[in-house]
Amino acid sequence: MKNRLMIALDVENAQLALDVSQNLSSHVGWFKVGLRLFVAEGPVLIKKLSEQNKIFLDLKFHDIPNTVAQAVQSAGGLGVQMLNVHAAGGPDMLKRAADAASMFPDMKLIAVTVLTSEALPEDLAEELVVTRALLSKECGLDGVVCSVQEAKAVKHACGHDFITVTPGIRWGEQDVQDQKRIADPTTAITSGADFLVVGRPILGAKNPLDAVNEALEMMHKAASIK
Ligand code: C5P
Repeated sequence: MKNRLMIALDVENAQLALDVSQNLSSHVGWFKVGLRLFVAEGPVLIKKLSEQNKIFLDLKFHDIPNTVAQAVQSAGGLGVQMLNVHAAGGPDMLKRAADAASMFPDMKLIAVTVLTSEALPEDLAEELVVTRALLSKECGLDGVVCSVQEAKAVKHACGHDFITVTPGIRWGEQDVQDQKRIADPTTAITSGADFLVVGRPILGAKNPLDAVNEALEMMHKAASIK
């Protein structure tokens, strides 16, 4: 299960990111670097983190096709194992992104469908997510970011091998914060999500390692009864 858990390193600087990754790397398979940390520390930190960890670079590229293709090429050169673009960029952008990513066979390219912080009625969210997932698949991408609530429908429409990465994970009495379409680790696994992204519930916990173990335990239990 540790290879299905991704910690969002939404911290201020490289030192904090390296501290978190060192403390958790034997328990967690992946670290996700998003806008905050990348804007602050850039490629140097990515290279350092990827010496010991698998990295999902979550920059959600969304621009004209040529610009996105060039950015994907640059990101691929950093040696990350997963990268994303925004499916709302449309088919030309997605195809050009997939072409650029094909030069890096060890890197999965996935598309953000609808942010988990958007509160759409469930049926609308599912329709839009599945439409964008099908488009992403047709354009040659490896999977999508979606909420747990849509993971089953995406697998049904796009096939078992099409990757689903699900943020918006919360459990127990945790603060939902800005997330809207949330679910707990048990539901994520039983819904067929491939990867669970967790940030603040772990980074903000009194003991982050305890929070990681709690999530892993729920994931293991869910997988054993699935
Ligand atoms: O702290 P929290 O667990 O809410 O963090 C979720 C992480 O997943 C954040 O880094 C956020 O940028 C990212 N994310 C998301 N929804 C998406 C795509 C990425 O919450 N659709």
